[in-house]
Amino acid sequence: MSNHARRSAGWQVEQSASEAYEQYLVPPIFAPWADRLIETGEIHEGDRVLDVACGTGIVSRRVASRVGTSGSIVGLDSNEEMLAVAAEAAVDTQPSIEWRQGDATDLPFSDEGFDVVCCQQALQFFDEPGAAVGEMRRVLEPDGRVTLSVWRSLDYQPAYVVLADALERHIGDEAGEMMRSPFPPWDGEGLRTLVHDAGFDDVSVTIEIGSVRYPSVAEFVRREAASSPLANSIAAVEQEVRDELIREVEDALHAYIDDEGIVSPMESYVVTAERER
Ligand SMILES: C[S@@+](CC[C@H](N)C(=O)[O-])C[C@H]1O[C@@H](n2cnc3c(N)ncnc32)[C@H](O)[C@@H]1O
Repeated sequence: MSNHARRSAGWQVEQSASEAYEQYLVPPIFAPWADRLIETGEIHEGDRVLDVACGTGIVSRRVASRVGTSGSIVGLDSNEEMLAVAAEAAVDTQPSIEWRQGDATDLPFSDEGFDVVCCQQALQFFDEPGAAVGEMRRVLEPDGRVTLSVWRSLDYQPAYVVLADALERHIGDEAGEMMRSPFPPWDGEGLRTLVHDAGFDDVSVTIEIGSVRYPSVAEFVRREAASSPLANSIAAVEQEVRDELIREVEDALHAYIDDEGIVSPMESYVVTAERER
């Protein structure tokens, strides 16, 4: 793990952003959504599955119990640190998962080698989402299936619109932009067209509504910051600035604070489609 990814002392945590992602964001957000994605994607025993932009591998790990030892799973990501955490988290997973570094828009696999491609919350980060979906089609066998998810825009994410605005005000434009980047201003029809134009039939787009919970607003801010690519610069700000940022988020989100901490709705598109022959 490189030193630049280690946290400075400012915000207590001593771990890389990838480790923080696995510890703080996977249990409350990405694990439950992985289960929904897999349920919608109808993954069966024996399927050969590719998890594109697998991050720390939660979708791959959840897929393992579905496909069993007659199936196989490959997790691909461009970020080596995410893959290192993925490999560590999956040491006991059966069947074992193959981890590959690569770019979603230029998949390092031959044509028609997979039955299912999954991609959870990553299409919005690719420079060319259409090219990536085209690559997913290429590596699928005829009649193969794709299942992917993309958060709805910030209009549907009450906690994150507040956090992004507060980060922008107190840390800077880049921090605000970073917190907005998972929530693209795409709509369901745009997603349908993107997937259809890449060579898929029977495109289904559903809106799924979930929630995220944290024990306090301070923990919400701290954990999101620690798991982000800007962990170091956010951790480096003065204690007073962080306190003010948390106060502001608390005020703006008071309607979502309860006896257990803070809860907020999160909405996502889930898209499934079948490869055209
Ligand atoms: C929000 S994370 C989602 C990770 C994982 N799918 C999950 O559900 O936890 C987005 C991931 O996309 C990866 N990523 C971004 N651009 C990529 C690209 N062009 N090719 C492959 N992976 C990419 C990042 O490294 C990151 O791990």
